[in-house]
Amino acid sequence: MRFDVVTLFPAIFDGYLTQSLLEKAIQRGLVDIQRHDLRDWAQDTPHRKVDDRPFGGGPGMLLQVDVTVRCVNAVDELSLTPARRILLTPQGKRFDQRMAEDLATSDRVMLLCGRYEGFDQRVTDILEPEEVSIGDFVLNGGEVAAMVIIDSVVRLLPGVLGDENSSVQDSFSRGNRLLEYPQYTRPREFQGHCVPDVLLGGDHGAIAAWREKQSRIRTEQRRSDLLDGRSDQND
Ligand code: ADE
Repeated sequence: MRFDVVTLFPAIFDGYLTQSLLEKAIQRGLVDIQRHDLRDWAQDTPHRKVDDRPFGGGPGMLLQVDVTVRCVNAVDELSLTPARRILLTPQGKRFDQRMAEDLATSDRVMLLCGRYEGFDQRVTDILEPEEVSIGDFVLNGGEVAAMVIIDSVVRLLPGVLGDENSSVQDSFSRGNRLLEYPQYTRPREFQGHCVPDVLLGGDHGAIAAWREKQSRIRTEQRRSDLLDGRSDQND
């Protein structure tokens, strides 16, 4: 799978792409993540201007449609496979595990990261990306949102996680509508807090039943909306 990330700040991704799971997935050829600096598609030198004030007034600057369309078209030409286009904005459809699972079936995804007050509306009118938000809060730009999406999608790709089942058991995945049960490791006792006996007994049936019950209790206490489907705004 390939991601093309269009951004004014490609360096934000440096550490993220060179650590841990992502680095390994890239090295093993399971995912290819290319960054494209929007500023490379500005026409005026030396300023390489990519933004301007909104018509009609108002605060901040907008990313310009001409620069953005030039950049996206050039990125599209790098591959024969058409990319699924996603524009990161707090006004978008809410990202969730279901969307991550759906994206993980794509060969190519292009992520357009907004900055300042976002993109000129004509970017959406012309390029027709899916507008996606990672939650009801405002970030300084789409880069962190792009990393959230990449992170949640890459771990779903076959071969990325050591144990193929571990993403199926994740909270919110299609295979599991409940929050995850609590987990413990050594030491068995710390500051008077003990690991539940059932986990130490080796009775796998009892362990599975305990975990299922704990998942249900946790979900009822913290996210009862998941039990009655209320959280499925994207259905
Ligand atoms: N850009 C700024 N805030 C955002 C959000 N919540 N989701 C996606 N992109 C954003």
